[in-house]
Amino acid sequence: MQNWEKLQQTCQTCTRCELCSGRHNVVFGVGNKDADIMLIGEGPGEQEDLQGVPFVGAAGQFLDDILSIIDLNRENVYIANIVKCRPPGNRDPKDEEQDACMEYLNQQIALVRPKIIVCLGRIAARRMIDPEYRITKDHGIWICRDGVWITAIYHPSALLRDVSKRPETFEDLLEIREKIRRIGANIEEKPSA
Ligand code: URA
Repeated sequence: MQNWEKLQQTCQTCTRCELCSGRHNVVFGVGNKDADIMLIGEGPGEQEDLQGVPFVGAAGQFLDDILSIIDLNRENVYIANIVKCRPPGNRDPKDEEQDACMEYLNQQIALVRPKIIVCLGRIAARRMIDPEYRITKDHGIWICRDGVWITAIYHPSALLRDVSKRPETFEDLLEIREKIRRIGANIEEKPSA
């Protein structure tokens, strides 16, 4: 397994899929590398591509808002995406693009060693939990795989678009808070090493 520095360098120069040709920046990840909680989105949008940081556009601001409800923030979670380069026009990342990029995410997960993974939206849930995952039906359900608790909530963009989904997400967030409490996950805002 590569260390953080080597892994990030490898990603910066990656040409494993066609998304590399249109990128301004590889969007590697952000947050606390020692976090007990990891959030996984789908892939960078326009602002993320320009700035090289996940969830910095409108959806990202909304994500920060909903995380704050349960005392989470970029100092006590680590955030990454299924694909690290922007799909053109914000289309869904293709299966082959996800396949090409998953090794990097799996290495990030192995380095962070989170106790809890929260998938943000359908694409991440299908990749991380079950290829048949139905976000409308299955959000908020927990599985435990290799000792890691995994769940999914609606993607922040969906919550921005559709206000009617917010109450269910509020319930899911409370369950995440309860899981953090029950398994003793650390949400101190320690700077990562
Ligand atoms: N949507 C995502 O899934 N990830 C980002 O980084 C930004 C928007």
